Amino acid sequence: MSITFDQVQKSFILQAKNSTYIIKILRDKYLAHVYWGGKIPDPSVKHIENSTSRSSFSACQDEEGKFSLDNRPCEYPSYGNTDLRMPAYQIQLPNGTRITDLSYVSYEIIQGKPELKGLPAVYTEAAAEADTLLITLSDELIGLEVVLSYTVFQDYDAVIRSAKIVNKGNSGLKLLRALSMSIDFDCADFDMMSLSGSWARERHVVRRPLVNGTQSIESRRGASGHSENPFMALLSREATETAGDVYGFSFVYSGNFFAGAEVDQYKTTRVVMGINPFDFSWLLEPGEAFQTPEVVMVYSGRGLGDMSRTYHRLYRNRLARGKFRNALRPVVINNWEATYFDFNEEKLKAIAKDASKLGIEMLVLDDGWFGRRNSDNCSLGDWYVNLEKLPGGLKALADAVNEYGMGFGLWFEPEMISPDSDLYRAHPDWCLHVPDRHRSLGRNQLILDLTRKDVQDTVIDMISGVLSGANITYVKWDMNRNMSEIGSGLLPPERQMETAHRYMLGLYRVMETITGSFPDILFESCSGGGGRFDPGILYYMPQNWTSDDTDGVERLKIQYGTSMVYPGSVMTAHVSAVPNHQTGRNTSLEFRGHVAMAGNFGYELDVTTMTEEEKAAVKIQVEIYKEMRSLIQHGDFYRLLSPFDGNVTAWMYVSEDKKDAAVFFYRVLTTPNDALFRFKLAGLKEDAGYRVNGGEAVIGGAQLMNYGINIPAELGRGDFKSRLYRLKMKE
Ligand code: DGJ
Repeated sequence: MSITFDQVQKSFILQAKNSTYIIKILRDKYLAHVYWGGKIPDPSVKHIENSTSRSSFSACQDEEGKFSLDNRPCEYPSYGNTDLRMPAYQIQLPNGTRITDLSYVSYEIIQGKPELKGLPAVYTEAAAEADTLLITLSDELIGLEVVLSYTVFQDYDAVIRSAKIVNKGNSGLKLLRALSMSIDFDCADFDMMSLSGSWARERHVVRRPLVNGTQSIESRRGASGHSENPFMALLSREATETAGDVYGFSFVYSGNFFAGAEVDQYKTTRVVMGINPFDFSWLLEPGEAFQTPEVVMVYSGRGLGDMSRTYHRLYRNRLARGKFRNALRPVVINNWEATYFDFNEEKLKAIAKDASKLGIEMLVLDDGWFGRRNSDNCSLGDWYVNLEKLPGGLKALADAVNEYGMGFGLWFEPEMISPDSDLYRAHPDWCLHVPDRHRSLGRNQLILDLTRKDVQDTVIDMISGVLSGANITYVKWDMNRNMSEIGSGLLPPERQMETAHRYMLGLYRVMETITGSFPDILFESCSGGGGRFDPGILYYMPQNWTSDDTDGVERLKIQYGTSMVYPGSVMTAHVSAVPNHQTGRNTSLEFRGHVAMAGNFGYELDVTTMTEEEKAAVKIQVEIYKEMRSLIQHGDFYRLLSPFDGNVTAWMYVSEDKKDAAVFFYRVLTTPNDALFRFKLAGLKEDAGYRVNGGEAVIGGAQLMNYGINIPAELGRGDFKSRLYRLKMKE
C-alpha cells in the first residue's frame, strides 16, 4: 500500500517510487501540506513541520489569537478566512457572500485510480498499479463538500491531483474559482520554468527566478494555446538537466488555464493550477458536482531530465490510449506545403506513387478536399468531397493510394464553421457568439458551439460519415483559431460564463465518440501547429503536429522545449522543402532529416519535383528512421546540449534495456578555427561496450558518458551540420 494514514501523527503518507508526499490534519479541521520531495520511507512528521507564529496583520482562526492560516502551508485553501494568499476555490452563495470554511471529514484509500467522467485523465490498467486517497472536506453551514483526490503510482514519481466540488445543500452555489490543486512550499529559493512562445515558435524554455508576488502563466484563448503550455516547474536555483530538485506541474486540460506561483511576505511559495478563473463561473444546483481536471505533479531530485523522463513514460503508457499507444507510427508524406489548396487527384496520386518508392507509408491529404475550398475563406462545416478536384471521390483516391502500398489519411477541422458554408447558412446560431455583437473572424472562420449537444452530434455524424466512406487510416484533426465573443445561444444568462469549459467538455465528448468508433484510425491533433499541444488532447489522440514551423533550426528549440513534458512518440516532425516556407532559410536535407527523425518522422514537400539525388537521400533517411523507429517512439530521452545555450544542440534516445541508442548532434553556424569540441552522452550502461555506427571499435559506456564523443574535423566547414550516431551494445 503506497498510501497510509498515521493515526498518531494525523498524517497521510503518500509514497511514490522515489518520492514522498505528506498531508496533515491540523486541529482536527484543517488540511495542511507538510512535505513533497525525495523519499522518506518512515517520516517523523513532527520534525518536518516548519511553522512559527507570526505577528502580522492577518486575522486568527482561534480565540487565543495564535493560529492564522495565513502562515500555514495549506492543501486546498479557502477564500474569506485568515489565509490571504491565492485561494484554490471560491464560491458565491445566493445571498452574495463568498465566505466558505472547509473542515476535514473523512478519508478513503482505494486501489487504482477512478475515472474522471467526461475528462481526460491518466489511468491504470491494473488496480495494483496505483493507490488513490480521497479526502472529504465539508462546510456544513452551506452544504458544500469538496473531495480531494491524490493518486500515487508504484512505478512513477508522480502525484496526480484533482478536486470534486459537490453541492449537498438546498440552494444553488456559484463556483467563481475551482482550481485543481494548490501546494505550499516553505521557501522561495526557486526558479520557475514555463514553455512559452507563439505560433511557429512554440514551447521555448523560459526560466526566471521567483520574486515576491505572483508570477503566472495562463490562457484566456479558449484553448491551451501557442503562447503558454499548461505546464510549469519550480526548480531549485542550482538545478540542471542532471541534478537538483525539480517540481513539475502539468495540467491535463485543453482550454483556459491558470498556473501561478505566489511568493508571500514570509518567503513561502504557493503554487496553484487549474481552469482559469478569468471569465469562468459554474452554477452548481443542489445535488450536482463539479469535477476539476487533474494536474500531474512530478518530483525529481535529479534534475530536469529525470522529470521529463517520468512525464514521457507516464504519458506514453498511461495517458495515450488505443492500439496506437504502442504501435509503430507510419512515415507520412503530407501534401500541405507541397500543394497548399492547389491539387487534384492526379497530383496526389503522383506524390503517393513517388513517395511509396522511397519507403514512405502514408499519404495525408491536408486542407482543401471538401466543399468549394480553394482558399481558407470558405466551406468549413461542409464535409463532402470536392468532385472537381477529386472526381472519383475519397474512396477512389484512397484505393489508388492503397494500390501503391500506402495508407491514406485525411485532414479535418471539425470544430469550425465558415460563414460561407452551407452549414452556416442553415444554422447561423451554431457558432459561439454573443447576441447583437459582431462575430469576429479568425482565418475567416467561426467556432462551432460545442457546448450544444445537437452541434456535437452533427459534428460526430458528419465526420463519421466521411471516415466510413473510404479506407482512411489516419486523421489530422486541426483547429485554427482561438475564441472571441465567447457565448452560447442556448445557455441562460447566469450560465454564460460556463461556455468555455462546456466547450471543452463537448469537444472531449466528440473526440471520445469519434476516436472510440474508429479504433483503427491513427488520430493526430493539430492547432495551427502546436496550439493545443497538451495532455488533455493526448488522451484522445496519441500524436500532435508539433509546429507549423518546419525550419530545421527553429525546430531545435521547439522540439527541445516540447520534450520537457512530451515524449518523442507524441511529436510529429516533417522534413520540408527549402527555402523554408516559414523562415526562408536554406538548410541541408541531411540536417532537416536529422531534426525530424527525433520525432514522428515524415515529409511535407513535393516529392515529385525532387532530383534523383534528393530522392535517393530521402530513401536512405526513411530506411535509417525505420531501423530506429521503435527506439525513438519507446526509448528514454536525454537532452545533452541545449539550443537555448548556443550554437550546438544534442539529444539522444536510449532503449529501456540500454542496448540501443541514437545520438543526434546539430551545429547551426560554423566558426573558423574553432576550439576542439566533444560532448558527453547519458543513459548508457557504464560497464557495457558500444559499437558506434557499426564500426569495429567497441567503446565503453563509462567513456562515452564521462569523456564523450569528439566532434570530427570534417564537420568544420559550412553551416547547418548534423550527425547521427547509432550505438549498439556489444553482446
Ligand atoms: C494549420 C496546420 O498546422 C497546417 O499543417 C495545415 O494543416 C493548415 N492548417 C491547413 O489549413
